[in-house]
Amino acid sequence: MKFLKTLGAIALLAASQFTHAQAWPAKNVTWIVPFAAGGPTDAMARDIADKVSRQIGQPIIIENTPGAGGTIGAAKAAKAPADGYTFLVGHMGYMGAGPALYKKLSYDPVKDFEAVFRFPDTPLVMLVGKNSPYKNAGDLVAAAKARPGQINFSNAGVGSTSHLIAALFAARAGIDVTQVAYKGAAPAINDLIGGQVDAMFDQSNTALPQVQGGRLNAIALTSLTAMPQQYPGVPPLADKTLPGFEAATWYGLYAPKGTPKDVVQKMHQSYLKALADKGWTERMAAQGIHLLPEAQYAPDALAKHTAAEVERWRKVVRDAKIQLD
Ligand code: MLT
Repeated sequence: MKFLKTLGAIALLAASQFTHAQAWPAKNVTWIVPFAAGGPTDAMARDIADKVSRQIGQPIIIENTPGAGGTIGAAKAAKAPADGYTFLVGHMGYMGAGPALYKKLSYDPVKDFEAVFRFPDTPLVMLVGKNSPYKNAGDLVAAAKARPGQINFSNAGVGSTSHLIAALFAARAGIDVTQVAYKGAAPAINDLIGGQVDAMFDQSNTALPQVQGGRLNAIALTSLTAMPQQYPGVPPLADKTLPGFEAATWYGLYAPKGTPKDVVQKMHQSYLKALADKGWTERMAAQGIHLLPEAQYAPDALAKHTAAEVERWRKVVRDAKIQLD
C-alpha cells in the first residue's frame, strides 16, 4: 500500500512538471531591471525582451527596480517565487563584483539563482560635456593630478559598472577622483549633459546617440581596439594612457533558484532563435555591442562565468582598493 502511494505521488509530480513544461508561459513574464529606465541595462533588456517575447508567445514586462547599484532589484529577484514568471537582468556589478563590495549582501549571485542566458557584452566609453576642457583621457588625468579629488565622475550607483570602471581607471592612472552616484546611467548622463559633473563611463550602446547627437564628447574607449564606425577618432585607453586596460560590461538573464529546468531551457532556446535574425544582430553590432560565440550564451556557460567573475572581482576590488564611498 505504502509502495503504491509513493508511486502515485511520483506520477503526480511527473504529471505536474509535464503540464508546466507544456503550459509555460501561460501569462506575462517579468524581467527585473535594477536601474532607472533609459540606461544601457534597460535599453538592452527591452530590446532582447521584445525579441524573446515573440518566441515564447507572451509579453515580457520590464520592471525597473533601481537603487544601490542594482543590488535592491537583485535581492528582490532572489526572493521571488521560482515559478518561471520572474527573472533578473543581471550584470557584472551586482552579479560579479557585488559580494566583494558589499559586506552584507542579502543574495548570493551563484547560489540563489539559475543562470538562463548571457547577453552580448558592451565596452564602455569615457564621456565629457560638449564644452569640456578635456579633449582626451591624458588631459583629464593631468587635471586630476593637479587638483586631487576635484574631478567628478557620475555613475549609475555604487557597484554599477560606471562606478567600477571609473574606480579602476583612477587606480591605474594613480589619480583621486570623486564619484557621484545616481539610480542609473540615464540620470547620471543627464547631469553630465547639464555640466554638473565632469566625466562618466557609459556603455557604448547608450553613449552613442548622445555623442552622435552632439550632446557629449567621447574621449576614450575601454575596448582594446578602436571602434572607427561608432566612435571615429576616439582612442582606446590602452593605446597611450593606460597600456593593457580593457573592460566591457557583461549581462545575463537569471531566474530565482529552483525555477524549473524546462523553463530555463525554453527561455534560452527562444533567445537563440531570436539571435538567428541577422538584421537584429547587425543593428546591435552597429551600436558597438559585442556579440559572443553561441556557446557562451548557454545557461551552464553563464553559471560558470558568474562564479569565475565573483572570484575575479574579489581580487580586483582588493588590488584597486575600490570602496563604497
Ligand atoms: C551601469 O553603469 O552599471 C549600468 O549600465 C547602469 C544602467 O543601466 O543604468
